[in-house]
Amino acid sequence: MGDIKIDFSHAGVKFTDEIKRKAEAANNLLSDGGGKGSDFLGWAQLPLRIQDIPVDEINETAHLLQKECDVVVVVGIGGSYLGARAVIEALSDPFDMLKKDRQHPIILYAGHNMSEDYLFELQSFLRNRKFGIICISKSGTTTETALAFRLLKKQCEEQRGKAEAKDVIVAITDAKRGAARAAADKEGYKTFVIPDNVGGRFSVLTPVGLLPIACAGFDIKALVNGAADMEKATAPSVPFAENIAAQYAAVRNALYTEKGKKIEIMVNYQPKLHFIAEWWKQLYGESEGKEHKGIFPASCDFTTDLHSMGQWIQEGERSIFETVISVEQPAKKLLFPNDDENLDGLNFLAGKRVDEVNKMAELGTLLAHVDGGVPNIRISVPELNEYYIGQLIYFFEIGCGISGNVLGVNPFNQPGVEAYKKNMFALLDKPGYEAESKAIKERLK
Ligand code: PA5
Repeated sequence: MGDIKIDFSHAGVKFTDEIKRKAEAANNLLSDGGGKGSDFLGWAQLPLRIQDIPVDEINETAHLLQKECDVVVVVGIGGSYLGARAVIEALSDPFDMLKKDRQHPIILYAGHNMSEDYLFELQSFLRNRKFGIICISKSGTTTETALAFRLLKKQCEEQRGKAEAKDVIVAITDAKRGAARAAADKEGYKTFVIPDNVGGRFSVLTPVGLLPIACAGFDIKALVNGAADMEKATAPSVPFAENIAAQYAAVRNALYTEKGKKIEIMVNYQPKLHFIAEWWKQLYGESEGKEHKGIFPASCDFTTDLHSMGQWIQEGERSIFETVISVEQPAKKLLFPNDDENLDGLNFLAGKRVDEVNKMAELGTLLAHVDGGVPNIRISVPELNEYYIGQLIYFFEIGCGISGNVLGVNPFNQPGVEAYKKNMFALLDKPGYEAESKAIKERLK
């Protein structure tokens, strides 16, 4: 079995002794717990401790939900939602949910916004359908999640009756604390625990990500095995010259601090990877954007966005670099046909695989963007399956931990997320927010 590989030859960064030393020291901090936020390092050794992950129990629960439900709604936000969606969409046939003979439940999402239209339309779709709920919240108090869960729980109970509904509602939350834990214990839901030492955005290889992924019909053992192999390959004992996570962290920090590249664009050429980039944006944005520092993580789906953002990337402000995820081997084969009339002039492509055209677009774009002053990092993934996605997930997680340590911030907290919540609660007159409420209303007069 191959591995994901990374090519820095177009990044324009030299691996100096200083860069290597910083990345290696930052990686050591993750294994010896000497860095900032060391209470939240549980994810770093998790894949190789597969015995700590209740894989069989997760699969059993997934089978039960698959048997009882045509639709499973995953209710959660941020780290309690994006990892599962990223993996499921990367591995799924996007048209599967339209097929009558599909093998597994449709997976839908809620609790990741507070749109009345979204929730209304979701509830309308679920009317008279056999649906179950996986409610995920580490704190158990997140407004978006709690709001969607209350609506869907009520609907599920009305449609199935309370006793049956209880068997298709699963809660993934803290072992003891929080409203979700209290509700799950009172109602008798099946529950899984989010370990204390694993933060939301690093939780995809816990039940948070694994239960929805298993429900969608994917092999979670293979996913964890891929992550475990990447854990070995990126351990601090692996020399810098072979350690792709330390190299990635070193290069992106050098681009940021030495070359003024403030924005990293995660690029894919496979629409299935759109949500891998969404997950990555949260991982890096929430981990590094602190103390008025941090690379801004952005993303583009190519070639789609070459027809919208391509101009900016080619000729806009030179503050960006690109990290491209390139999939070597597509899962399906499609040859471009010959056409006798050749009205579109595309017969020169006849007999070629569509992927070959896509790959030449990728290569042509790489050269054009590098010529235009956009450094390029290229991650190549042999194919889209559970094993390689597992590798990719752990690679980005460990790369993020190392990178945050190189930057000198605490990569495992997110204090800035509270500011909007405080204002929202004050504006909604939440009990306990009386002083804030008065102050904010004065300010808005
Ligand atoms: O990474 C994080 O910690 C956040 O994105 C959280 O996962 C997100 O805010 C949801 O929090 P919770 O799981 O407590 O509902």
